[in-house]
Amino acid sequence: MTVISSADTASASLRRDFRREALDARPALPATAADTSLSVVFENVRKIYRSSSGPVHALHGIDLSIKHGSIFGIIGRSGAGKSSLLRTINRLEAPTSGRVLVEGQDVAALDAAGLIALRRRVGMVFQHFNLMSAKTAWSNIALPLVVSGAPKARIDERVGEVVALTGLEGKERAYPSRLSGGQKQRVGIARALVHRPDILLCDEATSALDPETTLSILRLLKDINRRFKITIVLITHEMSVIREICDSVLVLDSGRIAEVGPVWRVFGDPEHPATRALLEPLNRDIPADVAEQLRPQPDSGASSAVVELTYMSKSGLEPDPVAIAKAFGGPFRLLQSSLDRIEGHVYGRLLAVGPARLAGDVDPFARVADRARILGYVPADV
Ligand SMILES: Nc1ncnc2c1ncn2[C@@H]1O[C@H](COP(=O)(O)OP(=O)(O)OP(=O)(O)O)[C@@H](O)[C@H]1O
Ligand SMILES: [Mg+2]
Repeated sequence: MTVISSADTASASLRRDFRREALDARPALPATAADTSLSVVFENVRKIYRSSSGPVHALHGIDLSIKHGSIFGIIGRSGAGKSSLLRTINRLEAPTSGRVLVEGQDVAALDAAGLIALRRRVGMVFQHFNLMSAKTAWSNIALPLVVSGAPKARIDERVGEVVALTGLEGKERAYPSRLSGGQKQRVGIARALVHRPDILLCDEATSALDPETTLSILRLLKDINRRFKITIVLITHEMSVIREICDSVLVLDSGRIAEVGPVWRVFGDPEHPATRALLEPLNRDIPADVAEQLRPQPDSGASSAVVELTYMSKSGLEPDPVAIAKAFGGPFRLLQSSLDRIEGHVYGRLLAVGPARLAGDVDPFARVADRARILGYVPADV
């Protein structure tokens, strides 16, 4: 088992793999008759680590498939098993039982040469970049090709291509210490792309970057995904990363699947407590000044209703101010909004305040949003 714990050990392990590759560079994995729309399939994958304090059950029978050309996000609390699952794809971890199929091929059945071919087809990007500090950006990117014995002309051509693709022109001769975090990650991505992989694995690839740089790296990943149809499997602890680029999301909870599906559905209508907990920071509470004055029933001092409208893309309803005003029976004001749009689906929450027509009658609002709740009543001037 290879555990990559630092840039140097990672580089060493990369170098070892590439050296073996040079000795026995057999081409791609054998074709199979498997479902060609699926890039990765997990069949009842279990992982138990043996540690000095006893067995650690990291994955409890994961059944899952990842479609070709998708961007698949994995989220979950620390220790949920995200990295363990990801690393079974390129056999950095072997499942204790169950199977992992990559492009229809059982990765456990691969011999040494097959494993080298697999790792060419599955690129990996790391949180801390894992660059060799004594090599320039160009040499870091070229390393996999150099070690595999590729001719110089081909190396130069391919490195030139990925340098342009990742926006690193002008930085080729720079050493990692002279590169910003975002540039270092671009080098890491370029290096992962030199063998033209089918799949790119990203374990917290943006976690060490500031928000603006994160966004630029996410755009790069999305561009790579769309242009070259590369399947991307990424782990993140930032929900905004999932919202920004993922098509589907898996929520892992203590080694089990809590929820999986299109991002708009899982984020729009989270069912599992683990998902809700992860999304909690996105759902703001009622503003304190409103909460202080909230009463359960309308009265002469509290004649406005505070209504929470939730959009989950279930019925295709979108926030429509005219319809909301009609439901209130008069003009209303927005107190708070956390709406987002993912792949054409609107989800999120509006907090609106307006005239309380009928005490507790939520029916008019049920027609303007996927879920409506009257949270209480406040004075008209709130
Ligand atoms: N090599 C190992 N030996 C023993 N236990 C391990 C090993 N690797 C991981 N574990 C344990 O397996 C469980 C899942 O770990 P994993 O690294 O997959 O979680 P994670 O979801 O990636 O967490 P994080 O968000 O902190 O990176 C944890 O309890 C972890 O302590
Ligand atoms: Mg991890």
